[in-house]
Amino acid sequence: MPYREQIPIDKGIDNTPKLLLEGYNYITNRRNKFGRDIFETRVLGGQKAICIAGEEAVKTFYDEDKLIRDGAAPKRLRQTLFGEHAIQTIDGANHRHRKELFMSLMSKERLQDLSKLLENHMENAVTKWTMQQKVVVYNEVVQILTRVACEWSGIPLNEREVNKRANQLEALIDGAGAMGPRYWKGRSSRNLAETWLRGLVGQVRNGELCIPKDSALYKMSWYQDINGELLNEQIVAVELLNILRPIVAVSVYITFEALALHEHPGEMEKLRNHDEEYTEHFIQEVRRYYPFFPLLTARVREDFLWNGHDFKKGNLVLLDIYGTNHHPDIWEKPYTFNPERFIDREENFYDFIPQGGGDYYRGHRCPGEWLTIEVMKVVLHFLVNKVEYVVPQQDLQYSMIRFPSLPRSRFVISDVKVI
Ligand code: HEM
Repeated sequence: MPYREQIPIDKGIDNTPKLLLEGYNYITNRRNKFGRDIFETRVLGGQKAICIAGEEAVKTFYDEDKLIRDGAAPKRLRQTLFGEHAIQTIDGANHRHRKELFMSLMSKERLQDLSKLLENHMENAVTKWTMQQKVVVYNEVVQILTRVACEWSGIPLNEREVNKRANQLEALIDGAGAMGPRYWKGRSSRNLAETWLRGLVGQVRNGELCIPKDSALYKMSWYQDINGELLNEQIVAVELLNILRPIVAVSVYITFEALALHEHPGEMEKLRNHDEEYTEHFIQEVRRYYPFFPLLTARVREDFLWNGHDFKKGNLVLLDIYGTNHHPDIWEKPYTFNPERFIDREENFYDFIPQGGGDYYRGHRCPGEWLTIEVMKVVLHFLVNKVEYVVPQQDLQYSMIRFPSLPRSRFVISDVKVI
């Protein structure tokens, strides 16, 4: 007989309120209480869910024979963050075929194109910043990345539209974990943004809009699915937003980069004096240390036994992203910010998962991870080597129950000088 044991249970008919109240720490708090990396709870209308964390848990979560994504993402997330029928919600051969499309956008050359674009936009922006009394870093970077994301994706954007589109893209992210007005703004922004992009796909297909063949808008408009058919315009719009929205979301990490420089003044010196490798360690530590995605959801494909526990077909499984990135078995002093921990660290697809884990092509790991790091590098270079600034008194606290989390002030700087 295989070994079986009862896993701890977080009692309650629906623990969603506790999950919302404890946010990024909900799973970690229970793991600490139970002394286990696995426990059962009930969430999202009382559904049974198994919470897991740690390296072995990540391996299981990304085993396609065991778990699927179809029917796992809460409706609210699909209505704001992902969109309906997006790549996040499909499995198997269909998913792998569509994932190749996303990965084909991430070639070295295309990432270099994006870096150059971003450098140009940053040059223009910092010149403007020197004339402003104060600069709200998050808001500025949202605007810059909206311009960059559209230009890089082949999406025409005139100057008068920038504010509107930046607000819409930001609202998709901001509405995802919210209730009330923030959520409704996210939903209506999705409708507006999808309508805008559907129109552009129509124009590409009927030849009214000529754009580079290696751009996301072109490739997605002409992508043929596994049956050799074009995606309908609505799904192309959803997948285009799966490029634009997360590029803009890198603003969150950039704001945390600025915060890390401020909270750890020694880092500025180290970054100025060290090679590119140290820059990468710093960026990895920002992605590990600060909260972004709290957890991921999947459903059990077929019954299986893991860690002495029976996972039953259809059960919900929650993988603790934040908790795995702070797991004491993986990270020494996990709650200390220390880029040096990445020196000589071997790459492991299962223990460092700010943007998901496992294989890019086979599983759901974020295809935009290299792009994210590239964007963070360009902006960090500006903050460290190209400008000087003052950080005035402000509220820099960030919440552990708000998604996405951000310093409350959104990081204000003043007296910007180009050096
Ligand atoms: C802001 C930084 C980012 C964070 C924190 C982030 C995080 C994540 C996470 C946690 C996942 C889910 C992985 C899974 O389900 O197993 C994901 C998936 C995804 N991300 Fe990102 N991401 C970021 C940036 C990007 C960028 C820049 C792009 C594209 C340009 C992108 C496109 C996607 C797509 C399309 C998926 C779905 C992949 C799939 O289902 O196969 N992300 N991301």
